[in-house]
Amino acid sequence: MDDHGHMATVSGAVTASAPGRVNLIGEHTDYNGGFVLPVALPHRTSVELVRRADRVVSVRSEELGVSGYTLGEELPTGGWIDSIQGCTALLRGDGHDLGGFDLSIRSRVPIGAGLASSAALAVALLRALRSAYSLPLGDVEVALAAQRADHEFVGVRSGIMDQLVASLGQEGVPLLIDTADLRVEAVPLPAGAELVVIHSGTTHHNASGSYNTRRSECEETARLLGVGSLREITQLPAGLPAPLDRRARHVVSENARVLETVAALRVGDLERVGAQLDASHASLRDDYEVSSPALDLLVEIAQAQPEIRGARLTGAGFGGSIVALAPAGDRGAAARIAAAYAARSGNVPSVVLPA
Ligand code: GLA
Repeated sequence: MDDHGHMATVSGAVTASAPGRVNLIGEHTDYNGGFVLPVALPHRTSVELVRRADRVVSVRSEELGVSGYTLGEELPTGGWIDSIQGCTALLRGDGHDLGGFDLSIRSRVPIGAGLASSAALAVALLRALRSAYSLPLGDVEVALAAQRADHEFVGVRSGIMDQLVASLGQEGVPLLIDTADLRVEAVPLPAGAELVVIHSGTTHHNASGSYNTRRSECEETARLLGVGSLREITQLPAGLPAPLDRRARHVVSENARVLETVAALRVGDLERVGAQLDASHASLRDDYEVSSPALDLLVEIAQAQPEIRGARLTGAGFGGSIVALAPAGDRGAAARIAAAYAARSGNVPSVVLPA
């Protein structure tokens, strides 16, 4: 299989994969028509699909367990199987003719770490279904289908960042996405830079509820301001009620930080990139209020390391992982940060990058 998870057929089985992601910067901007800069991880979710003659979908995974259902009888359960059911329900609803299949999943994307493991699973599955049933879907359409499955079946009103980078991303290369028109552009890291990603070992149990609340707050703010999305605002007008004023200030300033980060990456100015990461974290903590004591502590410890240029929470927040910028080839910082955080918090962190 190649780097883009393209499919191979091995004795009747179709295999496909897709990567998790770490978002370098541009958090909670993607459902506001804004800019994001995610990076595909080396960690991938792989699936192997064998078509069946009946309508049964039978799924097994070492990491997730065993589950199954019948095509046409998809029902949300609140569990991981909903990512699979959502995709088949949506494809059938779009008129694609599917049959049952046996699916085995190997997920190497840490689960519950804010690294988009469910988008990796959905995109890997859609790639396998596209191949097995010759579905006429391009890579952007695959991402959009995975997002619609989230909205219409799983019940999370996610933006398009995770699915798009899982479908189009190249490992280790930041992908600038303009979510207003889905234009993408690779913005490579300078040779001297490397990402550190550490999972805090904490997850928020009602993360999707809090996520949907933030999204509604942004939509309400856009309505009050008479714009289609907060992307259209670059200067914040006075008079918005709290907390909508803070939510909007985060989105407007975060969009500017993404563009500033891209400009700094292009000239190899790591100090400037790092300053954007630090400012993004403060904004997510104070204005958007999606951080947590564990994430704040982990970021604070990372920022205190002399070689770290900047650090922030990554992903939806409320738990999960942080991303930090380090000099290339540095092997010491991640372990030091994780050890200091474990000692001070009592949580069990894990270093995701460097892998
Ligand atoms: C989750 C969503 C994304 C994005 C981030 C926050 O990962 O799936 O669409 O909104 O949160 O930036």
